[in-house]
Amino acid sequence: MALIELHNVWKTYDLGEIKVNALCDASLSIERGEYVALVGPSGSGKSTLMNTLGCLDRPTQGSYLLDNEELAHLGRNPRARIRNRQLGFVFQNFNLLARTSALENVELPLLYSQEISARERRQRAVDLLERVGLGDRMDHHPGQLSGGQQQRVAIARALVNNPAILMGDEPTGNLDSRTSRDVIKLFRQLNEESGITIILVTHDQNVARHADRTIVLRDGYIAADTTNFEEALESLHAEDDFDETDEATEPSNAEPNPDKTPAPQSAEATPDEPDEALESSDAAPDQDAPD
Ligand SMILES: Nc1ncnc2c1ncn2[C@@H]1O[C@H](COP(=O)(O)OP(=O)(O)OP(=O)(O)O)[C@@H](O)[C@H]1O
Ligand SMILES: [Mg+2]
Repeated sequence: MALIELHNVWKTYDLGEIKVNALCDASLSIERGEYVALVGPSGSGKSTLMNTLGCLDRPTQGSYLLDNEELAHLGRNPRARIRNRQLGFVFQNFNLLARTSALENVELPLLYSQEISARERRQRAVDLLERVGLGDRMDHHPGQLSGGQQQRVAIARALVNNPAILMGDEPTGNLDSRTSRDVIKLFRQLNEESGITIILVTHDQNVARHADRTIVLRDGYIAADTTNFEEALESLHAEDDFDETDEATEPSNAEPNPDKTPAPQSAEATPDEPDEALESSDAAPDQDAPD
């Protein structure tokens, strides 16, 4: 049994007049220990897929099995528990608490844990910061750290619960190419040394290239799912070619049609549940929380 199994998953945003099919009939499985990149043009559904896999949002239709447990219909609280237990997140803008040391930032997800003593909490945070190469920066606040160092703190924080899966939506999006390479190296190291499953959304081919498998999204559909990166690139470029012919043949005043994909037949037309903003997530403390 794979760690992750999606079967015919749709995510439809109901905006009243129009419905946006952000994810269309997605089926995939991811084994424990895999390192997967999600790529595709802007608006193709990468974050939607990531938020679904990350239990931040639930599908309109379809099945999501994580570790053999069906999550598609779970409410907010059970999903939060799953996130706490199984998932670690890193974000493009790091989401660290500003006036809080690296050490405290990493300890944060464990703060309300009943099972873990303050002493163990501290020890885990220290170990992880050393592991990501920040043993000498533990008392620094985010503002006293470089972007790459801040992302390392965020990675340490994401790992403090011992998650099965580390997820990142554009985790190198705010980093220069050299720093980005260092962070990518760290992902690889964590994957190889601890066997942690890694799933990253990225626009950067140099980041995607380091994954073992690439899933290409286009218009909400999975256009390619391959361990051959060149094949993934071809699929991405097929989109470019399509864009060019599109522009050449389409009248310039063509209306965008967000609803060009057929809705799933039994998709509920009910409004989406209130957006589960990341700041309300225990996995991602809000950067701008009051001091
Ligand atoms: N809350 C929402 N309500 C309505 N439509 C949404 C919502 N979130 C996303 N969408 C739409 O769903 C589609 C997929 O969005 P998504 O954010 O998953 O794209 P993406 O591939 O992550 O894009 P980017 O690379 O720009 O981050 C887009 O057409 C987007 O406009
Ligand atoms: Mg996105």
